[in-house]
Amino acid sequence: MLRRKIVAGNWKMNKTLTEARELVKSLQSLIGSDVQERVVLIPPFPFLGVLSSDLSGSSIHLGAQDCSAHAQGAYTGEVSAGALKSVGCSYVLVGHSERRGYHHEQETLLIEKTKQALLSGLTVILCVGESLEERLNGSQEQVVGKQIMSIWNALNDTERAQLIMAYEPVWAIGTGETASPEQAQSMHAFIRALIKDNYGDALADNLTILYGGSCNAQNAKELFACPDIDGGLIGGASLKADDFTKIVYSL
Ligand code: 13P
Repeated sequence: MLRRKIVAGNWKMNKTLTEARELVKSLQSLIGSDVQERVVLIPPFPFLGVLSSDLSGSSIHLGAQDCSAHAQGAYTGEVSAGALKSVGCSYVLVGHSERRGYHHEQETLLIEKTKQALLSGLTVILCVGESLEERLNGSQEQVVGKQIMSIWNALNDTERAQLIMAYEPVWAIGTGETASPEQAQSMHAFIRALIKDNYGDALADNLTILYGGSCNAQNAKELFACPDIDGGLIGGASLKADDFTKIVYSL
């Protein structure tokens, strides 16, 4: 997969179906067909099928916020990657810090989720990021490096080529405190260098790395101008059509 420009909106646990459809309708009219290809919408599970129909005829992509580590079977409440693919998803988040934090998701589980998603033909957006404490004690590169390597080492090169990375410092998520362009660029460059050193030039050069954490209509342009930032994973600001559109056009 070649390096791409992407703005993904992670709606998290927000909106009703009616509100979700209204937002999609607004976005379809505000975002020109020439840039729709860069957009991924990541709504709650129950809206995916309907929104997929609403988006037919548009180039906007759909993604899911999580998937099961299992292919199918007696796993009440879980959603398989194959089911997501069947309702029109092409992307899935794995390892979001809210899943790691609130649901105690750890590397072995994340590896299985990644493999299931890739087997079903989904593109995985693998999320990593350090806590405030880790940033303050200067261990952010060590922490992010370990998060990445523990999963990348368990995959083969074909699988690695299907990954997109998202750097989301936990201290910047939903706090209004964004990483500065320098902080974000520095971590993105570190991630690309880590991939280059361990898995070679081609995977590193083709890797798409998104920034997430209080990215908004005001700061997106400066962040996206950084050489190793290929777009954004947007939370709060993806819930408003005008703001999200401005972010898409900042890329
Ligand atoms: P906010 O943009 O609300 O900080 O959320 C970022 C995020 O977690 C996206 O996945």
